[in-house]
Formats: sequence, structure tokens, C-alpha cells
Amino acid sequence: MDNIRKQLRNLKSLQGPFPIFDVDKLPPEPEMLFLEWLYKAINMQVREAHAMTLSTVDSEGVPDARIVILKNVSNNKWFFATSSESQKGQQLQTNPKVALTFYWPLLGRQIRIRGNAFDMGDEASSKDFLARSEDARAIALLEKQSKVVTPGVDISKEFHHKQKQITQNPNIVTPNWRLYGVEATEVEFWQGKETRKHVRIKYRLTENSWTQTLLWP
Ligand SMILES: Cc1cc2nc3c(=O)[nH]c(=O)nc-3n(C[C@H](O)[C@H](O)[C@H](O)COP(=O)(O)O)c2cc1C
Repeated sequence: MDNIRKQLRNLKSLQGPFPIFDVDKLPPEPEMLFLEWLYKAINMQVREAHAMTLSTVDSEGVPDARIVILKNVSNNKWFFATSSESQKGQQLQTNPKVALTFYWPLLGRQIRIRGNAFDMGDEASSKDFLARSEDARAIALLEKQSKVVTPGVDISKEFHHKQKQITQNPNIVTPNWRLYGVEATEVEFWQGKETRKHVRIKYRLTENSWTQTLLWP
């Protein structure tokens, strides 16, 4: 126990060098700054720059979180896709309030988004589904995400059956797969610094316009 405590204490964090975050040149809306930071992360070859933590709350108000892939950003909406019958899908049905978190260690950057998730409808969901790989579609066609595996069930056999279905009908979709758009109400950009004098800017949506405030590190 003591050993891991010491090892944790010795692990390095926020080593840098990191990019400069010039708070005197902020764009009016968070989407613009997000895209600027995302392009930088992609160009710097941050691994899985499009992976983000999606936090939800269940019907009892207990938080839950897991990683999902960012599918698009548009009109200050951040998009992800998942099964509506999964744990998170059910949580979203009872409470659409979510948080999204990105962390790009290479750049010392964290972005936190809060808002409400909306189902983007059948057409957009099917389009997202068909753009996925065959294996990803086969898994989703099982419509079992987050369900308990019944003892004795052969997952590979069921998966293979769905792969065959896709070969026979490449346009098959499941209404279970949904695209969600998160309408942001708050977006915080955090630029870590080796000196620990981190820079934080929070965008807040008030009526129809965005305000920006500087936060203490
Ligand atoms: C890098 C990465 C990307 C993932 N992308 C997705 C995704 O886009 N959609 C999804 O439903 N699950 C994705 N997952 C799996 C989820 O983290 C999670 O295990 C699954 O969705 C079940 O979550 P739930 O039981 O809370 O509903 C991803 C996991 C990782 C590690």
C-alpha cells in the first residue's frame, strides 16, 4: 500500500512544454475555440483526440461516466452516438443533463462541457450507424449493450450471425442506435502550466449570447 502511495507521489504530471493560451484573443463562441484546440490536438497527433468522457446521472441522481467518441461539432452542439437501451441510453431518457470532458495530456489541455443531450432523430441516427465499421454495426445490431450476458450464450456465434445479416443486407440499421447532440450551456477551457498557474476560461450561455470569464486555477 505504502509502495503505491510513493509511486503515485513520484509520477509526473503536466510536464510540458505546453502551448500558450492567449486569453486576450478569445473567439466569441466556445465552438470556435474548441475546434481550434481540437485541430491542434489532431495535428500534434494526440491519440484518440476525439475520445471524451460522457457523464450522466441515473434516476436516483447517482452519477455515471464512460468514454464515447465525438462524432461532430456544429452550432455549439457536441455529438456522440450510442445504444438507447444501454445504461447511459436509459439514463439519458430520464435525465438529459450531461457533462463531456476532454483531456489531451500532450497539450496539457482539458475541456469541460455541460448541457442537455437531445436525440437527433431517425435519419441522423441511421446515417451515423451506416458510417460505422461492419464489426461495430454487427455488435450494435445485437441490441445488447450493457445487458448481462446469460450464462451459456455464445457471444461469437451471435456476433457472426449479425455479420452475416450485414453481408446479406448492407443497409440494415437498428432503431436502437441513436445520435445525440449536446446543446452546451457551459464550456470551460483549461490550459495547464508547468508552474501550476493554469489558465481557465469559462464560456456561459446567457439568453442567446456567450459570456466569458477567467477562473482561478
Ligand atoms: C476509446 C473508447 C471509445 C468508445 N466509444 C464509444 C462510443 O462512441 N459509443 C458507445 O456507445 N460506447 C463507446 N465506448 C464504450 C463505452 O465506454 C461504454 O463501455 C459503453 O458504451 C457502455 O456504457 P454504459 O453501460 O454506461 O451505457 C468507448 C470506449 C472507449 C474506451
